[in-house]
Amino acid sequence: MTMSVYLVVKVVHILSVISWMAGMLYLPRLFVYHSTVPPESESSALFTVMERRLQNGIMTPAMIMTWMTGLWMAGSAGFFTDVWLVCKMALVLLMSAGHGFLSRERKAFGAGERLHTQRFYRIINEVPTLLMIFIVALAVLKPF
Ligand code: HEM
Repeated sequence: MTMSVYLVVKVVHILSVISWMAGMLYLPRLFVYHSTVPPESESSALFTVMERRLQNGIMTPAMIMTWMTGLWMAGSAGFFTDVWLVCKMALVLLMSAGHGFLSRERKAFGAGERLHTQRFYRIINEVPTLLMIFIVALAVLKPF
């Protein structure tokens, strides 16, 4: 393996991360708006389509690419025994659980259910932001 292959994989990793994070930050924001419209309305149906296309068309493929490229780099550079990577992977697992949680919420919205208040979605909107800050800091600074 040459260094350039590693760097090309890193480019794909960063592009995948950007696409996944765009959705992780925006989908709960769509839920904030979605929770203000009646379940049977035309707007609700439109939000449902927007949410499904965002998650199935962009976020899920981007999450899979993020994992594949990240694990490949970790293996080829021998990072698996580094504490920063173990911490990073734990936070990425939480982010992936958040992705699953948003999927469940999205399906409930689509079925006309309103599981939580608008305030709830405003609060959980901040969780991916916080996780992202720590994950990027660990990846770049490698403090331990
Ligand atoms: C379990 C999934 C992931 C694994 C195994 C992983 C692993 C890695 C590895 C091994 C590198 C290369 C580090 C280097 O060459 O110095 C890297 C780079 C990077 N990762 Fe991840 N990563 C994952 C998910 C993520 C996520 C979710 C984010 C952001 C939210 C992220 C952000 C970055 C950034 C910004 C870099 C570039 C760091 C640099 O080159 O200085 N990664 N990742």
